[in-house]
Amino acid sequence: MRRPARIRTATVVAGARPNFVKVAPVLRALRGRGVEVRLVHTGQHYDDAMSRAFFRDLGIPAPEVDLGVGSGPHGAQTGRVLERFEADLVAHPADAVVVVGDVNSTLAAALAAAKLEVPVAHVEAGLRSFDRAMPEELNRLLTDRIADWLFVTETSGVRNLEREGIPAARIFLVGNVMIDSLEAARRAWQAAGRAPAAPAQGAYAVMTLHRPANVDRADILAGILDAVGELAGRLPVVFPVHPRTAERLAAFGLGPRLAAAPGLATTAPMGYLEFLGLLAGARLILTDSGGAQEEALVLGVPCVTLRESTERPVTVAMGGNRLVGSDPARIRVGIEAALAVGGAPRRPPLWDGRAAERIADILLEEASA
Ligand code: UD1
Repeated sequence: MRRPARIRTATVVAGARPNFVKVAPVLRALRGRGVEVRLVHTGQHYDDAMSRAFFRDLGIPAPEVDLGVGSGPHGAQTGRVLERFEADLVAHPADAVVVVGDVNSTLAAALAAAKLEVPVAHVEAGLRSFDRAMPEELNRLLTDRIADWLFVTETSGVRNLEREGIPAARIFLVGNVMIDSLEAARRAWQAAGRAPAAPAQGAYAVMTLHRPANVDRADILAGILDAVGELAGRLPVVFPVHPRTAERLAAFGLGPRLAAAPGLATTAPMGYLEFLGLLAGARLILTDSGGAQEEALVLGVPCVTLRESTERPVTVAMGGNRLVGSDPARIRVGIEAALAVGGAPRRPPLWDGRAAERIADILLEEASA
């Protein structure tokens, strides 16, 4: 296994919105232990609302470099990160590269580093939806195959990696860095009071939607909007719209249908603190996001997941999450069940706000062992 004698320098890579939430505590933990860290932003997400707003809210210092890869088809986007990150890593050698999550930037940066024989740490390793039609599933499988340290959020991830033949010495159950960020920000969003977009404490639902499987086909997207539109007639729904979804809504001519649904209010993508405040005060969340399923569990907000599978099964096992796919009839049933049961905060093992500290300790200890 390629592990250096000691880690003095590390390059941390982030590209898309959920990555920023994950790297914030890792950067703090590594820098707090004297590691010289270079933060590389790949530029996969670039709008102020998708990127800089998160740096501000999470208190992340500006990245050392922005590779400016932007949007594009999978091959082009992944290829641009591969090429540009390789050049950056050659120009700025590091003892280890840390990648997080499952976006295209994650896989590309891990591959570039592994080819340069720089050891790779993958934060949020081992999660599997077992659905290879999801681009993220391929990114997860391949990143874990080439990573040297696999930092896992929940026990299902450990089992998945073991089944795939990854040596146990590389696998570390450390908890969830998303929850580190949530806890670090808790006072800030609580102090901000009710989120500006929230109709009234506990009397609204939140929806987020951006997976290609849900938003890239007009009939599926329209069916979801119909089911959620019905709910909005009795429980207002706040819907911060991801740029991918906004594009599709416009392209499919679904804007008028959205506007006509009473109680369904769209907003621009929200910053981190505003979104957490909104979620914390909600009665229900409807989502296809991975991170929001986890945040809902810890905040005690019942979650209806608009997907057939989840790579985060602990959220279902602990009773906070229901998988309903995109069929309007199943969405309606899921909503009723979630509203009837309600929610309570639940915390899987090690989701205590200290995952990044464990990661940093393991990286430093392991390397010097
Ligand atoms: C990406 C990740 C997904 C993650 C999501 C979080 C992959 C394969 N997908 O999906 O896992 O859950 O981020 O948001 O890496 N766009 C903008 N402004 C931006 C960024 C994107 O307008 O700052 C628009 C562009 O039109 C772009 C589209 O959104 O084509 C999709 O962006 P992209 O990064 O390709 O994928 P996401 O759907 O955001």
